[in-house]
Amino acid sequence: MFTSLLALVAILPAFVKAQSPIWGQCGGKLSLLASTMNAPYSLRHLQAKDGFLAGPTTCASGSTCTVSNPYYSQCLPSSAGGGGGGTTTVGTTTTPTTTIGTTTASAPTGSQTPDAGNPYLGHNIYLTPFYAAEVTAAAANITDATTKAKALSVAKIPTFTWFDTVAKVPDLGTYLADASAQGKSSGTPMIVQIIVYDLPDRDCAAAASNGEFSIANNGQANYFNYIDQLVAQIQKFPDVRVVAIIEPDSLANLVTNLSVQKCANAQTTYLACVTYAIQQLNKLGNVYSYLDAGHAGWLGWPANLSPAAQLFTSLYKNAGSPSFVRGLATNVANYNALQAATPDPITQGNPNYDEIHYINALGPVLSSAGFPAHFIVDQGRSGVQNIRQQWGDWCNVKGSGFGQRPTINTGFSAIDAVVWAKPGGECDGTSNSSAARFDFHCALADADQPAPEAGTWFQEFFVTLVTKANPPL
Ligand code: GLC
Repeated sequence: MFTSLLALVAILPAFVKAQSPIWGQCGGKLSLLASTMNAPYSLRHLQAKDGFLAGPTTCASGSTCTVSNPYYSQCLPSSAGGGGGGTTTVGTTTTPTTTIGTTTASAPTGSQTPDAGNPYLGHNIYLTPFYAAEVTAAAANITDATTKAKALSVAKIPTFTWFDTVAKVPDLGTYLADASAQGKSSGTPMIVQIIVYDLPDRDCAAAASNGEFSIANNGQANYFNYIDQLVAQIQKFPDVRVVAIIEPDSLANLVTNLSVQKCANAQTTYLACVTYAIQQLNKLGNVYSYLDAGHAGWLGWPANLSPAAQLFTSLYKNAGSPSFVRGLATNVANYNALQAATPDPITQGNPNYDEIHYINALGPVLSSAGFPAHFIVDQGRSGVQNIRQQWGDWCNVKGSGFGQRPTINTGFSAIDAVVWAKPGGECDGTSNSSAARFDFHCALADADQPAPEAGTWFQEFFVTLVTKANPPL
């Protein structure tokens, strides 16, 4: 025991002194089980007590250790001032705005009657300064001038902002105030695009995006409070329209993954929480919601279409058919084409081999059941096709490129907008097998590695998205 303690004392300073490079990890929790399996007893004891990271805790010069989430701190470039979840100062400069297509009518917001048509019409989309700062910092670390310029152009493309912890919610107030001012000065009202993403027992069939709340520990009440805080921010700015994607993967997991114990256990809570979210947001009169509906390779299998439509419709009706629920969001953070030139061989057996086939198959079933069948589709990372080994591979797919730019000129009447929902460059999940949120998908042969924690910046992946963008940047 004494000798092993001495050995520990000898080892620890070496861990503590080493520096992590820019974008590297500098703190966070390891999985106690995985990280301690081979550790000496005394180290196991220490980790079990403290849950600390046995790795560098300081950063290379020019970068600062910033807490991204309870699982991960990352060395972010000091000069850029961006990247750290919930801790970034966005400054007071006016961010440029962007339109994603020709606009016709300008509808008032804040009314209790939703627009009959596409909620994106007549609005500009707010560029989130957080993502712009991540991209600017990333571009500063690219040496090739052409790639750097292309990378910088990504800061002008609108993405959704993920509210994946309650601590980030105050940022929404900052963005809405900024958007409100921009709308007033340009005369065209603004849309702020958000993702509501903080369910208790989140990501129940996977590990990479497990969240901060657990059902066993007051999760539903914590979630209701999270929604209340979002509502409190949004109601201060009735002149800004919000488009919200509700809880990626949650309802899809309830359609196909009830055989997973954690999902079965979460079913009632997910339904109560999503219902609460759409009801509370609906009261505001300026929030258009799209429920997440997985993607073609998930709910798009013919056997899943009808159960999916039933779940969406029953949830919607039980919630009182909230009039600002506009439809469904598909392919969020996934890699499918909207319209594939040819079916990717991995889709074999599913006639709905791309998002438009999925949407065209699901839409009529939804409509006949009484659910509003309008869609938005994430194409942010769908530029390169036929690069996955299996359709179920979702983590940092190697060789991905940025995809079709956001637009409301989608070519399909059922699709309100092509959007970028997943901010390209933010990681899908860590490839570190000893991390608490390690998911095996992130260590598959077609997953880019080494990958940092979900949601944190993955520089190498971003550079590939830039160079392989299709259409090119
Ligand atoms: C992942 C992460 C989440 C992040 C999101 C967008 O789902 O778990 O933290 O906000 O991706 O990058």
